Formats: sequence, structure tokens, C-alpha cells
Amino acid sequence: MAHSRLSPQHSKLRLPGLADVHVHLREPGGEHKETFATGTAAALAGGVTTVLAMPNTTPPLATAETFALAWARAQAGARSDWGIFLGGTDANAGALAPALQAQAAGLKLYVNDTFGQLRIDSLSTLLRHFASWQGPGPIVCHAERLMVPAVIALAAQFGQRLHIAHVSRADELAVIRAAKTRGLPVSCEVTPHHLWLTEEDLLRLGPLGDMRPRLATAADRAALWQGIADGTVDSIATDHAPHTLEEKLGQPAREPGNAQHSARHTPPPGVPGLETMLPLLLTAVHEGRLTLERLVELTATAPRHIFRLPAQSETWVEVDLGTPWTLPERGWQTKASWSPFTGLTVYGHVVRTIVRGVEVFDGNIVSAPPGFGRPVRPHHSELKSHSQEEQ
Ligand code: NCD
Ligand code: ZN
Repeated sequence: MAHSRLSPQHSKLRLPGLADVHVHLREPGGEHKETFATGTAAALAGGVTTVLAMPNTTPPLATAETFALAWARAQAGARSDWGIFLGGTDANAGALAPALQAQAAGLKLYVNDTFGQLRIDSLSTLLRHFASWQGPGPIVCHAERLMVPAVIALAAQFGQRLHIAHVSRADELAVIRAAKTRGLPVSCEVTPHHLWLTEEDLLRLGPLGDMRPRLATAADRAALWQGIADGTVDSIATDHAPHTLEEKLGQPAREPGNAQHSARHTPPPGVPGLETMLPLLLTAVHEGRLTLERLVELTATAPRHIFRLPAQSETWVEVDLGTPWTLPERGWQTKASWSPFTGLTVYGHVVRTIVRGVEVFDGNIVSAPPGFGRPVRPHHSELKSHSQEEQ
């Protein structure tokens, strides 16, 4: 990276460390794709200083035992600060110990198909989760299409705070907008890949453009940008979902006993995103499509507020805005080491990341060792609003 190539429009800026509330770090069970150590190195290189890890691991984080195992792995491996979601299943509905609920970043419910074993397909299970969850983190739903109004209705009926992950379609956003207008306790996130790519990019990307929710239409993408402008979109999260290039491109299955599937290989859905989110969003700032103020709100302030995360003291990111950088094919910190954005020229990059006063990324090398990151837990009580604080 030619950091010294300064263009006339070039500027160096300091932003608060980003909080990414939707990452897949694959421990336990998927260590060949990513680990806490590699995924959080990608986070720090991308200006992300807090990550919330998803529970669709192998086995899923749906029991006290597996959650404790992932917690221990994160304590030993994570370089950035971190939190972990519990996954809702048929078996643990209404049966999650209060201490476990308090430790978790939130409860993740998968009500549509995606990667991994966590999938809720009975109303009775869904009801029991909405009736019994006590937080303090919100319920996060992977809900698409008709399931969006369904989970909003349940949240309203049971007084739950609901966060809808990776919203990708205009209609879904319209439902969320209407719910917010009614004062319902719903928030949502969108991903950089749904903001930058559409189904037309599938021709070029092939399986590298496959994720859940799938890439949508140009009209859907425009609606997401509109949602950012009018405040319907609360936050931006990566849905960093690393899979190896071999897995994505469907090379003959290597797993023993899986040979018969290699003829009609289905690539796992998901794309890495931790190292490209901030460069892309800074590009939108450079192009005048986003203000820096809104960028900070979407990636740092709002996610911390929604997930009741503590502030990180002396933690910031230095970015370069305006210098062109063509995203490379290789050389990423993520173990997946590819990007759906390779070849795109962006106008922003992370120059330095500082956590608790310590430089952890210098623009090239991540120096925070595994275990440097600290666990974050959601606050128990409602954060005071600004007006309450002023009184
Ligand atoms: C995610 C994964 O690979 O774990 N894949 C994806 O396409 N987004 C699962 C998910 O977030 O739905
Ligand atoms: Zn995800």
C-alpha cells in the first residue's frame, strides 16, 4: 500500500473504533475458515475494535457448555474486544439460565435458511424464545421477507427489543420503517455487500457472490441507501462470513465421506468483510454519498447503543480519506484471504488502529497478540438518553 502517495484531496482523520455486531469467527469447529485470532486481526486491520461473534458454529453456541468453550477460546485468542451471541434452538427455548443470558451479547434466532445448523421453523419455539428472553442484549433475528413482519409482531407482543440482521430488500425496509413510525422497539443493520453489490454482480462473482440474504436488485440497493439517509437503517455490520476459496469455488470435496456430493457441490453462503467495510464507507464519504458524522453513527455509536456496549477508552482509528487504493486479491488478515470486492478502487483506508492507548495496527501489521482483546457485556439497565443525561 502506497500510504505516502498524497493526492490534493487527501486527508487523515481520526474516528472512534468501530463496533461490528455481526461477525462469524468459526470457533469452535470451523478453525480452517477463521479463528478468534485471525478474525480479530482482520477486525483491527479494518478499524473494528469490538466484534460480536455469531453462534452458528459447530457445535452451535446453544448450551452453557459450548458457550463456555467459545468464551474460553475468545479469551485466549481474540485481539480486539469481543462479545458472543447465544443461538436459539428448540431445545433451549425457555431454558436459558439468567447468568448465561446476561453474559451473551444477545439471542440470535435464525428463522430463515442459512449456513449452519441453527434454524427455527416452529412457531411454538419462536414464541417460547420471545416470551422468555430477558436480555440485557436484544433478540437478533435473521428474518427475511414474510418473517420480517412476523418477528416484529412478536417483539411488540412480548415487549422485546428486536434487532433485524442484514436487511437486504426494499419491502423489508418499508415494514421496518412503518414499525418504527409506530414506535415499536425494532432496530436493523445492513451490510456493505448489499450496499455495494446487486444480483447483476453474480455473473462476475459466481459463488463468491453467494450469501444469505442473497444479493438483491438495484432498486433494493437504492432503498437501503435511502434507509441510511432517512434513519430507518440504524447500523452497518459486515456479516463477515469467511469460507475458504476451495469451499466457495467447489473444488472436489475433501471431507471424508463427502465424495458423493462433489458432483453437485453447493458452496457455503457468506463473504468476508471486516477489512473492506471502512474503506468502502469512506469511499461513499469521498463521493459525497455519506457524511462522516453518519458513518460514525452507523458503525460505532448506534451499534454500541443498540447492544448496550461499554465505551472503549483511548480507542480510535486513523484513516486516510481520498487516496485511491485498488483492493487486492490476496494479502488479507482474514484466514479466508479473499474478498468479493477485489479489483474495486476505494478512496479510504485504515492507517493505524489504537486500542486502550496501544497501537495494535500500523497500516501493515497487526501487533495485538491473541488474548489482548477484552470481553464486552451488555449493560443491564437502559442507557440514559441524551436528554435524561442533561437533566
Ligand atoms: C453466514 C455464515 O456463513 O455463517 N452466511 C451468510 O451467507 N451470511 C450465516 C448468516 O449470517 O446467515
Ligand atoms: Zn451472519
